Amino acid sequence: MRYKHIGLVGASLIITLCLLSGLMYYFNQDKCPVGTFLCYNSTICMPQRSWCNGVSDCPYSDDESTENCFDMHGTWDWFTKDRQYFWGNLEDCDTRDAPVRCTYDMCHVSCTNYTEVPQNLSTNVTAIFLTENSLTHLTRNVLSRYREIRLLYLDNNDIVEIEKWAFLHQNELFWLVLTTNRINEIQTGHLTGLNKLETLRLDQNNIVMADFSDLENSTTVYLIDLSKNMLTTSSLKLPQLPTLTEIILDENRFESITEDLFAGCSALKSLYVSRLRK
Ligand SMILES: *[C@@H]1O[C@H](CO)[C@@H](O)[C@H](O)[C@H]1NC(C)=O
Ligand SMILES: *[C@@H]1O[C@H](CO)[C@@H](O)[C@H](O)[C@H]1NC(C)=O
Ligand SMILES: *[C@@H]1O[C@H](CO)[C@@H](O)[C@H](O)[C@H]1NC(C)=O
Ligand SMILES: *[C@@H]1O[C@H](CO)[C@@H](O)[C@H](O)[C@H]1NC(C)=O
Ligand SMILES: *[C@@H]1O[C@H](CO)[C@@H](O)[C@H](O)[C@H]1NC(C)=O
Repeated sequence: MRYKHIGLVGASLIITLCLLSGLMYYFNQDKCPVGTFLCYNSTICMPQRSWCNGVSDCPYSDDESTENCFDMHGTWDWFTKDRQYFWGNLEDCDTRDAPVRCTYDMCHVSCTNYTEVPQNLSTNVTAIFLTENSLTHLTRNVLSRYREIRLLYLDNNDIVEIEKWAFLHQNELFWLVLTTNRINEIQTGHLTGLNKLETLRLDQNNIVMADFSDLENSTTVYLIDLSKNMLTTSSLKLPQLPTLTEIILDENRFESITEDLFAGCSALKSLYVSRLRK
């Protein structure tokens, strides 16, 4: 009788211990502070701005790998979101007759050496990669055939101008990369229609004036990167952006940074403004 009792107590102790260590493991997975992410195979927490910035910051370069370059939150909630919502339907693209210099990976398409956004892609494409092409303008209708795009990479082109309403039909787009172009202003109308936008990268352009009124009251915008531009204190206009968590303003021409500038950004956790440019 007594031994049986001891056995029972022992067994329940072991079970409790197992449960506890399981829980501890679960909660410890997310060990980096908000605004940073964990590098693989390490205990290094990198600031969010190092994620997909073109420089390998992690020991195994996982911060720059293509499959990772879509996580911008550094927390596990991003992964647990409904994939269908994020990626759309990946199966519905007719990949047999891809335009020249374009290749499909399911509904993701990459093209090289284009001067315009190709118009004969499958209308169901969910991601377009036009990195290092020679685009110069984004005209109003150039993307309107493609209404399922989630990810759009237009970095390393020569884009000087975005026409108003160029993104009017991009209701699903959550990740927009315009890094390294020659854009000189963002005005009302330029970002109209981006109702689900989360990450906007506009770093390394020639932006002298940026007005984000189009995104006013957005409940999705999470990160805006404006580093390496020519913004001044009076030329940046940030409206109410209740979910904006991170803004990167490094290497601009700010004379001073006042609290008023971020008055509408109640969720802001990280602000980078090092290296003010003369
Ligand atoms: C982690 O390290 C192992 C061996 O050291 C390596 O094979 C693996 O690729 C690393 N993981 C990543 C994501 O680089
Ligand atoms: C787009 O997807 C729909 C179903 O979602 C399919 O009926 C249609 O044929 C697809 N269009 C193309 C051009 O692949
Ligand atoms: C796509 O359009 C381009 C011109 O815009 C043309 O040269 C090419 O042949 C077209 N490709 C297909 C597969 O329709
Ligand atoms: C890119 O296009 C230009 C002309 O449009 C051509 O001269 C050049 O060879 C092309 N480059 C590649 C890598 O296809
Ligand atoms: C954004 O919200 C504020 C306060 O809730 C409201 O006054 C303003 O009109 C809204 N702006 C837009 C463009 O919806």
